[in-house]
Amino acid sequence: MTIHQLFLDICFCPLFSENITTMKIPAAAGFVTLMLFSLVHAEICPLSCTCKPLGEMKGWLVDCSSKGLKEVPDLPVSTRKLYLQNNSMTTVRTGAFDNLHNLEEMNVSDNPWNCDCDILYLKLWLEDFSESSIANIICATPASNERKPLSQLTGNELDNCWKSLPIKCLNFFWRDLALITFAVIVLILTSCGVSYTFTCIQVCVA
Ligand SMILES: *[C@@H]1O[C@H](CO)[C@@H](O)[C@H](O)[C@H]1NC(C)=O
Ligand SMILES: *[C@@H]1O[C@H](CO)[C@@H](O)[C@H](O)[C@H]1NC(C)=O
Repeated sequence: MTIHQLFLDICFCPLFSENITTMKIPAAAGFVTLMLFSLVHAEICPLSCTCKPLGEMKGWLVDCSSKGLKEVPDLPVSTRKLYLQNNSMTTVRTGAFDNLHNLEEMNVSDNPWNCDCDILYLKLWLEDFSESSIANIICATPASNERKPLSQLTGNELDNCWKSLPIKCLNFFWRDLALITFAVIVLILTSCGVSYTFTCIQVCVA
């Protein structure tokens, strides 16, 4: 068996065989479906909330108030008005509001906020968003911060803040390292795939 034949057998040369093209179509279809799914998913109204389109101005009014929610649900990215008041939320996970670029109004009052270090994201986010949104936010726990307004708490008063920060940084470090490693592997595999395909085509042409 010559080297050329060997390559032909291994490569399923795209120029002479349909193997590769028929394999590509389901993969592409899957990819498109996935893209569509994530686009649609980003606009789905959370189960326990009611969503109303806001007329000509694009975006949604998302009303999740008085639903006994313990955490912020996944919100449509084009949320413009967000009502989360009168629930049972104690904290907001970091980044929960970061993709809501169209947000104009929000209400998170009347929740039993636990004002320890984890509340820092909400505090900074609200301060950045508007004065009125943080005005009536009152802490419920821990005992040292009970009934204190969130806007008036300093880093020192937020329990455990400085103790837990280094651990969080370490978490970010490992996560970033994992992401970077993954990206490098994908890059290597992709470039291997590309040069592999080129070899196939060259061999086929020859
Ligand atoms: C707050 O929510 C509870 C149910 O979780 C409801 O019974 C109550 O009427 C609500 N209060 C206000 C002021 O909307
Ligand atoms: C948020 O909702 C509460 C009712 O739960 C209301 O009293 C308050 O005025 C609202 N705050 C803002 C900033 O709209």
